Amino acid sequence: MTDLRWPTAQPTLSADGLTLRPWGPSDADAVDAACQDPEIVRWTSVPFPFRREHAEGYVGPISAQAWANKTDVNFAAVDDDGTVLGSFGLLRMNSAQRVAEVGYWVAPGARRRGVARRAAAAVTRWALHDVGFARVELLAAVQNAGSLRVAEQIGFTREGILRSAGVGRGERLDLVMHSRLPTD
Ligand SMILES: CC(C)(COP(=O)(O)OP(=O)(O)OC[C@H]1O[C@@H](n2cnc3c(N)ncnc32)[C@H](O)[C@@H]1OP(=O)(O)O)[C@@H](O)C(=O)NCCC(=O)NCCS
Repeated sequence: MTDLRWPTAQPTLSADGLTLRPWGPSDADAVDAACQDPEIVRWTSVPFPFRREHAEGYVGPISAQAWANKTDVNFAAVDDDGTVLGSFGLLRMNSAQRVAEVGYWVAPGARRRGVARRAAAAVTRWALHDVGFARVELLAAVQNAGSLRVAEQIGFTREGILRSAGVGRGERLDLVMHSRLPTD
């Protein structure tokens, strides 16, 4: 079984005009503001209610520890001015099986400008071609039209519906399983 090729430090990635870099303490305000958004609350597993300490943890020890333990990798997507546009990363990483899931949210004010399309594609490329994952999964609720479109746009294959596989805010969610392989 081939081992994954992890760089020593979490890298910075280029994403077609965007930059994906590790989170830092000065990003807490941006994360706190974005994660009040009902769409992020509805479709992702961010804590609810989302409090300041959740933001401080995410941009600090939680993401640093996740990188150190190789459980998750979280990137801030920023524009040329350094404005935080969203969060992109790999979660549920299984190093033995070389399978990971790409996950993301985009701040409400930055939507519909191709941020998710460009950044999710870059993280997936990095996972498959640099780190050496054999499969990247993307799971989106059947009602999440935006995320389903992102998956389609960046070349993921739709495999089927996982019934009641997700938990949203107070509701079970049917999730569409997508995958991308290095050979796709
Ligand atoms: C889903 C989400 C990540 C999309 O981010 P975005 O940066 O606005 O997406 P993009 O601008 O890259 O758009 C990619 C495609 O999806 C389409 N799209 C984006 N949001 C959409 C929506 N709400 N409904 C329908 N289509 C949508 C865009 O029009 C574009 O397709 P097109 O080029 O054919 O027009 C963002 O709305 C979000 O953060 N939602 C809340 C959190 C979430 O759902 N995370 C994903 C969990 S699986």
